Amino acid sequence: MAKEKKNSVWGTRVKKPTSKLLQSINSSIDVDKRLYNEDIEASIAHCEMLSKQKIINPISAKKIITGLKKIKIEIKNKKFEFKREHEDIHLNIEKRLYEIIGAHAGYLHAARSRNDQVITDFKLWLKKSSNILDKNLTLLIKSFLNKAKKNIKIIMPGFTHLKNAQPVLFSHYLLAYVEMFKRDKIKIKNFLNNIDENPLGSAALAGTSLNIDRHYTAKKLGFKKPTDNSIDSVADRDFVIEFLFISSLCSMHLSRLAEEIIIWNSDLVNLITIDDNLLTGSSIMPQKKNPDSAELIRGKTGQVFGNLVSMLTTMKGLPLAYFKDMQEDKASVFETYDTVLLNIQLATELVNGINPNKDKMFKAAKLGFTTATDFADYLVKRGFSFRDAHKKSAELVNLAEKNNQTLDELNLSTIKNIEKSVDKDVLNIFNISNSVQSKKSYGGTSAFNVIKMINKYQKEFK
Ligand code: ARG
Repeated sequence: MAKEKKNSVWGTRVKKPTSKLLQSINSSIDVDKRLYNEDIEASIAHCEMLSKQKIINPISAKKIITGLKKIKIEIKNKKFEFKREHEDIHLNIEKRLYEIIGAHAGYLHAARSRNDQVITDFKLWLKKSSNILDKNLTLLIKSFLNKAKKNIKIIMPGFTHLKNAQPVLFSHYLLAYVEMFKRDKIKIKNFLNNIDENPLGSAALAGTSLNIDRHYTAKKLGFKKPTDNSIDSVADRDFVIEFLFISSLCSMHLSRLAEEIIIWNSDLVNLITIDDNLLTGSSIMPQKKNPDSAELIRGKTGQVFGNLVSMLTTMKGLPLAYFKDMQEDKASVFETYDTVLLNIQLATELVNGINPNKDKMFKAAKLGFTTATDFADYLVKRGFSFRDAHKKSAELVNLAEKNNQTLDELNLSTIKNIEKSVDKDVLNIFNISNSVQSKKSYGGTSAFNVIKMINKYQKEFK
């Protein structure tokens, strides 16, 4: 067995010591040390396969596996010294393995390259981390369901263009967000299916002449199958971009929620209050309570979008197969993951911590002639075309506006001035509770629907 040299693994070929500047731009260990668990897991699977295939001898294999397990414990217990001159997590572990088991360590890297190694690690990490995001999204959804359940019948104005549109239930509004985060969960599930192919054994780009068993390592590492094309395997970063996209979409949803909460909590709108543990004060204005929690969820969304655009831009100029540019993917993904996880968890606290101002919501729902569409529907039920009914209702609104009245303050004779065929029962139309109750169409805002939906979601997200 050859003795391991002190310098880098390519020291025989690259004869000068690495420039300090290159070392500092090239070293990724500060970032990719987060992959240590996955790197060791993949190396153990690879080693077992090499031994099973008689590519390496069982004695070396045993030593390698014992050494790798020891390194895992060292890293876990913070007893491992990560060295920048060893570039990345893969070489740091390999170097330490040499220190522990000597030249046996040199047998591990047969039939693999860091090119397939890094994406195997990364895919394993992304699987684990996406599952954590998914579980946290379930908790967020549950917080919406609890809040909706406690406030089923509270009426508020629904908006389009931020102008009062129609009365809706606060609970129905909350369930709209359940739908968004449910879609995020579906995307994560699809993503987990998409990345379920193991690149390990693609080696640098061409595969290998050694008699490896890629199906064995795939199974061992919990992948559905090995990847089909060795060149694509090491050149592909679609899975990174897909993760960053799903994270961006989810962050956009969180940011819309945050913005909503900020508006509702503003003194001008004042539809909700927020628990004090989610607010901060001002260093100068003694009276202030600011919704920083929501503002930061909205604010951090910018860097999440940035990481998606950054990775798309990095990849657009790269022919096949591997380039060092791709090393930048880890920083983007780790930052995005940390941010999105924190944002989901904080949003969950925020949803738990908002309290509707019931009376304010009810009063606001009456403003802006929010039952004008109900009047048009009433006329449609009496044989009017919707366009004619729309016109009549607009005339009624003009009249109410001129009289400085809300629609439910109009009396029957005033309404008859606009449309004489109406009956006394028309007066019920302008009551906002009746309006909400009447929206029984599938997916509509009636309490009848909302209760059914809450029950459905509760079964779904147990
Ligand atoms: N640290 C590298 C990365 O993250 C590993 C792959 C290095 N491959 C190479 N051919 N230099 O991309």
